[in-house]
Amino acid sequence: MKDKKSILITGGAGFIGSHVVRLFVNNYPEYQIFNLDKLTYAGNLENLTDVENKPNYTFLKADINDETQISTLFIKYKFEAVIHLAAESHVDRSIEDPLAFVKTNVIGTMNLLNAFKNLWKNNFNNKLFYHISTDEVYGTLGKTGLFTEKTSYDPNSPYSASKASSDHFVRAYGETYGLPYVISNCSNNYGQNQFPEKLIPLFINNIINNKPLPVYGDGNYTRDWLYVKDHAIAIDLVFHEGKKSETYNIGGFNEWKNIDLVHLLCQQMDDKLNRLKGTSEKLITFVKDRPGHDLRYAIDASKIHTELGWKPSVTFQEGLALTIDWYLENDIWLNHVTSGAYQEYYQKQYH
Ligand code: NAD
Ligand code: DAU
Repeated sequence: MKDKKSILITGGAGFIGSHVVRLFVNNYPEYQIFNLDKLTYAGNLENLTDVENKPNYTFLKADINDETQISTLFIKYKFEAVIHLAAESHVDRSIEDPLAFVKTNVIGTMNLLNAFKNLWKNNFNNKLFYHISTDEVYGTLGKTGLFTEKTSYDPNSPYSASKASSDHFVRAYGETYGLPYVISNCSNNYGQNQFPEKLIPLFINNIINNKPLPVYGDGNYTRDWLYVKDHAIAIDLVFHEGKKSETYNIGGFNEWKNIDLVHLLCQQMDDKLNRLKGTSEKLITFVKDRPGHDLRYAIDASKIHTELGWKPSVTFQEGLALTIDWYLENDIWLNHVTSGAYQEYYQKQYH
C-alpha cells in the first residue's frame, strides 16, 4: 500500500462519485483509492458493495466541513491527488436551506484546499486537485447558444451560487499559491444509483408506484442529459490527461425539454412494466414551478472532444433503457433509500 499513489475521492458514496470510485478501483490497481464521505441522505455504501473488499479501496467516514478531521486525514494518508465530488447537489433543497449548501460546497471545499495546500506547498510536483463542478454556474441560456468554457459565471440558485463560489476558490488557490488544479463543469447526469429526488429516478419510482409525476411549470425547460458512466470516463480522462489550470465542459450533446423527456420515459416504462400504452402518461401532473427555474442548459463539449478524444458512448434511448432496467432490478436499493427521511422530504416538497 505504501508504494501506491494515494488518491482521495470525496463524495464517493453518492451517485456520480460511486461510479468514479468503481472505475478507479477496478482500472488502477496501482492507486490506493480513499473514498471520503459523510454518508448524508445522498450517500449510500450499498452503491459500492462490489468493490468494498478490494485491496486498493479504503472508505473513510468523514465530514468535509470539519476542518480538523480533514487536515488530520491529509497528514495521515498523504493524499497526492484529490477528485472532489462531495457536495449538497439538489437545487430544490438549496432553495429550502441555502446555508447548508454554503457550508458543504464552499467551506467544505476550502477545508480540502487548505489541507492539500498545507501538505504539499513546498513541492506541488505530480500533485493535483480536481474539482468537479456543474454547468449551472453559467446560469441560464435562452432558446439558442451553448455554454463554453469562456461563458461568464451567472448562477441563479443557491446551489449554483455555492458551486460557482467553490470553483472561484479553486482557481484563486491556483493563481495565489500555485496549487495544481483542474475543473470540469458537467451537464445533467442520469443513470444507476441516482437518489430519487432528481427528475429521472423520481419519476421512475413514481411510475412504478402509480404516483403522480410532478412536472414543474409548463415543462418547457431544457436540460442536456449525460449517462453517468460516460461522465466517469470523462473524469478519468481529465484527471490523467487534462491540462493543469484549465476547465473542461462535459455534456451529452443531448438536449431534451422536460415534458418530451417525461413522455419518452413513460413510453419506455409502459413497455418494461408490460402496461398498456399511455398508462404512465396519465400520471403527468403540472405543478407549481421551481423559483428561479433556469430555462435551458446546453454544453459545448468540443474542447474535451477535440483535446482528449472524449464523447458519450451511448444514446439517450440506450442509457435510459439501462437506467430503467437497473431500477426495476434493484427494488431493494430503491426501497431502502425511499424509506424514512425520504417520505418526509417528499411530503414537504410536493404537497
Ligand atoms: P450526490 O448528492 O448523489 O452525492 C453527494 C455525496 O457527497 C454523497 O455521498 C454525500 O454523502 C456526500 N457529502 C455531502 N456532504 C458531505 C460532507 N459535508 N462531507 C463529506 N461528504 C459529503 O451528488 P452527485 O449528483 O453524485 O454529484 C456529485 C458532484 O457532481 C457534486 O459536486 C455535484 O455538484 C456535481 N455535479 C452533479 C451533476 C448531476 O447531474 N448530478 C452534474 C454536474 C455536476
Ligand atoms: O446541470 C447539472 C445539474 O443537474 C447538477 O449540477 C445538479 O446537481 C443536478 O441536480 C441537476 O440539476 P437540475 O435542477 O437540472 O436537476 P433536477 O433533476 O432537479 O431537475 C431537472 C429538470 O426537471 C429541471 O428543469 C426541474 C425539473 N423537475 C425536477 C423535479 C425534481 C420537475 O419538473 N419536477 C421535479 O419533481
